Amino acid sequence: MQVAKLSAELIGQTDLLRLNSLSELTGCDIFVKLESQNPGGSIKDRAALQMIKDALASGELKPGMTIVEGTAGNTGIGLAVVARSFGLNMVAVMPNDQTKEKEQMIQLHGAELVTVDPVPFKDERHFYHTARRLAEERPDYWWANQFENTSNARAHYVTTGPEIWEQTQGKIDILVSAAGTGGTIAGNSMFLKEQNPAVQVWLVDPDGSGIYSYLKSGAYVSQGSSFTEGIGIMRLVENFRLAQIDAAVNLPDDDLVSLSRHLVQHEGLVLGSSSCLNVAGALQAAVLHGPGKTIVTFACDLGERSASKLYNPEYLAQRGVRTDAEPIHDLIARYRQQGDRVWYRTP
Ligand SMILES: Cc1ncc(COP(=O)(O)O)c(C=O)c1O
Repeated sequence: MQVAKLSAELIGQTDLLRLNSLSELTGCDIFVKLESQNPGGSIKDRAALQMIKDALASGELKPGMTIVEGTAGNTGIGLAVVARSFGLNMVAVMPNDQTKEKEQMIQLHGAELVTVDPVPFKDERHFYHTARRLAEERPDYWWANQFENTSNARAHYVTTGPEIWEQTQGKIDILVSAAGTGGTIAGNSMFLKEQNPAVQVWLVDPDGSGIYSYLKSGAYVSQGSSFTEGIGIMRLVENFRLAQIDAAVNLPDDDLVSLSRHLVQHEGLVLGSSSCLNVAGALQAAVLHGPGKTIVTFACDLGERSASKLYNPEYLAQRGVRTDAEPIHDLIARYRQQGDRVWYRTP
């Protein structure tokens, strides 16, 4: 336990929690790294801190300036937390289809919120381009650019990866992660494979994202859509480019409903939607490669940020997503049968 003078100092050093029920069902040790423990409540605090530290060190960002960033929400919250610690201001540009819970947190942190319509990336009104334009128009604005700014992946290379290595005493076999910018999977895969090249890195992708198809075929093609937020992408960005990935699987929103309810019942955890996808990916890896493996994934944030979607039966029904959980033994039996859906890198 630490005594800190700034909230930003409390970013990182998160606990690792064994998911006992899923571990016992699969004969593996399945762990989640509780990134919700960060002061801003998500894994993106790490990227926010590293991007700001590096930009202050290079002189690009100076005290009194305003950070601007396009975000699905969590990076904006993380940047707002760190901005306060360093005497900076924060403007977050978000698409208006993300949960209101995250919009509210950005405003509660005293950051300015700009919302834009969700449009394809090629449209100049996209949140990414809007943030860039705001920074271009104002000399006192600094654009964090989490997609192309590799301080993001570096955050995980210098903090998260070493923490996982130490917490598992080097016994990790498989790391599982979804990707938005790819910072998490890139930094962790680089560090862990440097320690032990045999560590296997799995990417888990929601419907509507093109990463799984990109790894399989070299083209970003998406099918369907997902209510998950902050993950999935349709273009190659610098942070993702650094990732060292051995396997990938695409899993549907229905499975997130089933696993989220299981985790509430059996582990006392109400996880956010990307975290539930991560756990689904870890379960898929455990079923196909266990027993005996040590598998680590991330609780990127808590379910309070997904309450109006993942935990809202009316919303799920409207989208045609299941509202009742598939019994866990049925889910596991199905995962045993769908090994052919997993893409493996050919050596
Ligand atoms: C809840 C959540 N999970 C996962 C991610 C993806 O992490 P990364 O951008 O490091 O790929 C994000 C990114 O915003 C997120 O908000």
